[in-house]
Amino acid sequence: MASKPHSMILGTGAAIPGRVLTNHDLEKMVDTSDAWIRERTGIEERRLIEEGRFTSDLCTDAARMALSDAGLQAVDLDMIIVATISGDVGFPATACYVQKNIGAINAAAFDVSAACSGFLYGLSIADAFIGSAACRHVLVIGGETLSRMTDYSDRNTCVLFGDGAGAVVMTPSNGRAGLLGTMIGSDGRYADLLYMPGFGTKNPPSLESVKAGYQFIKMEGREVFKQAVTAMGEAATRILHQAGLSSDQVDLLIPHQANLRIIEATAKKLSIPMERVFINLAKYGNTSAASIPIALDEARRMGRLNQGQVAVMVAFGGGLTWASAAVRF
Ligand SMILES: CC(C)(COP(=O)(O)OP(=O)(O)OC[C@H]1O[C@@H](n2cnc3c(N)ncnc32)[C@H](O)[C@@H]1OP(=O)(O)O)[C@@H](O)C(=O)NCCC(=O)NCCS
Repeated sequence: MASKPHSMILGTGAAIPGRVLTNHDLEKMVDTSDAWIRERTGIEERRLIEEGRFTSDLCTDAARMALSDAGLQAVDLDMIIVATISGDVGFPATACYVQKNIGAINAAAFDVSAACSGFLYGLSIADAFIGSAACRHVLVIGGETLSRMTDYSDRNTCVLFGDGAGAVVMTPSNGRAGLLGTMIGSDGRYADLLYMPGFGTKNPPSLESVKAGYQFIKMEGREVFKQAVTAMGEAATRILHQAGLSSDQVDLLIPHQANLRIIEATAKKLSIPMERVFINLAKYGNTSAASIPIALDEARRMGRLNQGQVAVMVAFGGGLTWASAAVRF
């Protein structure tokens, strides 16, 4: 059986930008079709951030909503973790801008870079800090503006990604509710399967690096797909085992929203019927670190996660990284 939970989710929030980019819009931009995108990915449209707004703005909106849902003030926070690969600037952390925006003067703030697995990495860190009693209230946000790193002339990638943010407020467990387990993993041998080569110190901004398109996401889609199916299946199986749960005890599987076929393969591996899998991929595409907290917030607000129910979250992303978590509400 799982040990007593350290931390629980007290509130959730999400921020979805207003601009919609449909598959039909993309048909006018690259050689693709609505039918191809739906069939290969399950995506119908994605949301893009408005001009003049940044990742920290989406994160701030999601954070305010999560705080209000939790019934806490920003000054109550001890820590802010933002999971992102599309932060506002090279440094400081996007979490510092969120801290400034909400006035969380008592918090330590930092970012986590684990691509699409980043939110669950953040959740795992928050659980450890709360478990050691070093922190009481931790805000974990997944926020991305991948549209700013996407090459809209590359049909292999531009159909996949969207922008958004989701947030949770974590607090010490009240006993029964809380995180039943988390696991994180990575394999740097596959780092170049999904990455952005530019704007680090290896390829700093220059005319040459921009001409070479180093400011855009590069991906070996087919290989990433294969790795994703294996890693998502294993991460999900391991968390069930670690938390002492059977598939029947999972009320809702919340997978990273990258591709419907990857989600179906993960559900099949766990023997969880699709009715118990949360999917909003068609509306938002792959929002990387934001995908799970957005889905979690939607699931709660739709009444699909009620008190006492168990959710399993599982993610996979560039790095390669993977992560999973089981939580009882
Ligand atoms: C990207 C992905 C949808 C492509 O689907 P796929 O079934 O693997 O397709 P393939 O890569 O085998 O490509 C098949 C053909 O479709 C073409 N194609 C790629 N993107 C296309 C698009 N948007 N529209 C039309 N055709 C496209 C390819 O060029 C290829 O053509 P070719 O056979 O003439 O070379 C799929 O590989 C995938 O989802 N990978 C994982 C990506 C992911 O989730 N990344 C984030 C991880 S967090």
